[in-house]
Amino acid sequence: MTGDQAAGNLQIRPAGPFDLEILAALHAACFTAAWDQAWTANSFAEILAMPGAAAVMLLGKLHGRDDEPLGFAVTRSVLDETEIILLAVRPDCRGRGLGQRLTGHIVERARAGRQQAIFLEHAARNIAAARLYQAAGFKQIGIRRNYYRNRNNDAVDAVVMRLDLTQ
Ligand SMILES: CC(C)(COP(=O)(O)OP(=O)(O)OC[C@H]1O[C@@H](n2cnc3c(N)ncnc32)[C@H](O)[C@@H]1OP(=O)(O)O)[C@@H](O)C(=O)NCCC(=O)NCCS
Repeated sequence: MTGDQAAGNLQIRPAGPFDLEILAALHAACFTAAWDQAWTANSFAEILAMPGAAAVMLLGKLHGRDDEPLGFAVTRSVLDETEIILLAVRPDCRGRGLGQRLTGHIVERARAGRQQAIFLEHAARNIAAARLYQAAGFKQIGIRRNYYRNRNNDAVDAVVMRLDLTQ
């Protein structure tokens, strides 16, 4: 995938009940770190049934095919705050600004919905996530010690980040 392909033909659309298997397949391909948990199609069905939960898919050209799923995000909004629960880009499409596109879409939508802030947690060792969210203006507001468990049962800290939308 070239940078030009990443820049063109991209669209972000809401994901719904017909996308659960695609979301689960994307999740399995994207969340491969030792601290990541498995999510099935049923996990996505359950979260999307919660009030305020929403998912989007980023589609684009890949290997000559249009409208291939390249990434996704799951959010939940409660009152005037939004949480980014999951956000990911396919490993073979990373480093080309697609994570920024997804993050920017969520920020725009939250602003349009008059949300006050966006929160998220990521593993402290997840440098790509830290850089992505810092670049989007998120600030670290806390550390949750031993929040995740590695597959070998080691504890992993989580970083809590917040983007203020009131300014
Ligand atoms: C985090 C993730 C979404 C980034 O997606 P991406 O499409 O590669 O991100 P972008 O190309 O838009 O890059 C955004 C920023 O992150 C930085 N970045 C991305 N990957 C990086 C890496 N492996 N190491 C260091 N910085 C990285 C980029 O340099 C860029 O920063 P800059 O604007 O200061 O140059 C992707 O790595 C991913 O899907 N990871 C697995 C799932 C995950 O951990 N999600 C986050 C927690 S929910």
